[in-house]
Amino acid sequence: EARSPDDLRCPIVVIMGHVDTGKTKLLDKIRKTNVQEGEAGGITQQIGATFFEKKTLEAQTAKLNVTEKFDFKVPGMLVIDTPGHESFTNLRSRGSSLCDVAILVVDLMHGLEQQTIESLTMLRKRGVPFVIALNKVDRCYAWKTCKDTPIRDALKEQDEGTVSEFRSRATDAKVQLQEQGVNSNIYWEMGEDDWMNSDFVPLIPTSAVTGEGVQDVLMLLCQMAQRKIWKQLMWCANLQCTVLEVKAIDGLGMTVDVLVVNGHLREGDRAVFCTLNGPIVTEIRGLLTPPPSREMRVKSEYIHHKEVKGALGVKVIGNNLEKVMAGTPVMIVGPEDEEEDIKSEVMADLTKLEAKLSTDKSGVLVQASTLGALEALLQFLREETNPPIPVSAIGIGTVHKRDVTKISIMNEKGHPEYATILAFDVSIEREAREHAQEMGVRIMTADIIYHLFDQFTRFMDELTA
Ligand code: GTP
Ligand code: MG
Ligand code: NA
Repeated sequence: EARSPDDLRCPIVVIMGHVDTGKTKLLDKIRKTNVQEGEAGGITQQIGATFFEKKTLEAQTAKLNVTEKFDFKVPGMLVIDTPGHESFTNLRSRGSSLCDVAILVVDLMHGLEQQTIESLTMLRKRGVPFVIALNKVDRCYAWKTCKDTPIRDALKEQDEGTVSEFRSRATDAKVQLQEQGVNSNIYWEMGEDDWMNSDFVPLIPTSAVTGEGVQDVLMLLCQMAQRKIWKQLMWCANLQCTVLEVKAIDGLGMTVDVLVVNGHLREGDRAVFCTLNGPIVTEIRGLLTPPPSREMRVKSEYIHHKEVKGALGVKVIGNNLEKVMAGTPVMIVGPEDEEEDIKSEVMADLTKLEAKLSTDKSGVLVQASTLGALEALLQFLREETNPPIPVSAIGIGTVHKRDVTKISIMNEKGHPEYATILAFDVSIEREAREHAQEMGVRIMTADIIYHLFDQFTRFMDELTA
């Protein structure tokens, strides 16, 4: 396929970091939205995706570009939001494996934290170039707000004491990064060569609340994309597409959120997906995206497309999508292709995932809203609880009466403690609740993952007390 430096695709940017460092808030600032305040407990529990048009990037860097005079060649930017909570290592790993460049967000007040270091390790293992946002700079003592201003202009407005607090905290972060083997510097204090041609990581002070430094982050990411990794961004017609999430949406049924990196998807295409029960071939009945600058994981007025071009996050509608697995590739059967070849190619990675999802003979039923959440729950139950909580069955979506019947068998098997449903972020049918009463099945619900573990652990402690 002919690829050209004049035909770049959107860079895929992943935003990573420790819980509550301000990742979603930073995106809210760029989107002019309020997604973060709508999240249960204020924590992100799924992978998100937002597409920014080139004109948005230009508008939001206009003040800074008066001096930078940067020529935007990328057609936009696709930003993947990830959760920072420790339970979601799998989603951070998925995010870091899909991206071209990354923003690692550090809370300037806290310095490097556990998932900062985990994220650093992932990015370096995959050789992803990244910038570090030293966020919450507005928390420095007596900070004077300079709304949406380039960071150097904002720093000029501050008193000496404020600047020296900022300096000292930034130096602490730099030292901590050095301890991890990462060379870094305040970005305007390094030559462009330092971060273009070496592994020096640029530090950008930001405030996701008042907007200082956000222009600088966008500008640096685009510069990195166009000057450092442009070869990798040359658009390619071969489809490269991955499943982000499988999700039931009211009125649409089961949908699959995919990331199209290269190539096209078209309505009517014969798509091949990977499931636990083997490959499925289904016609694409609809292709939906949220409007530009809107988060895909927030229900909105979707835009319908006949055809989409990478890089873009897209919601795919079709039949038989219930069992599609997140993190697996999507392929299209072209006129020249053997369907069987495509099927086996799509299934190739499954063995790895199957190992993760294998279940025990006796154990609780775990039900979650998305496969990503389910994977996170299972991983936590297996690896983070001591002793591990066994899981005998899993499911996605609403808890029905039949689920209660299924797990009530644990009572007969002499394991009444496992006659339990851990229901994460899903609704419970009224009939299911009534049936649970009759059958002696407990249903524990929560929309924050670790609350479920707390409930179950308390319950087990009571049993053994
Ligand atoms: P997870 O997705 O749960 O890992 O968190 P996150 O990194 O997305 O952080 P989030 O956007 O949820 O912000 C966490 C809290 O920090 C919220 O209360 C925000 O309002 C606050 N916050 C985020 N950025 C800033 C900032 O720049 N300044 C100040 N003062 N507060 C901030
Ligand atoms: Mg978040
Ligand atoms: Na949060």
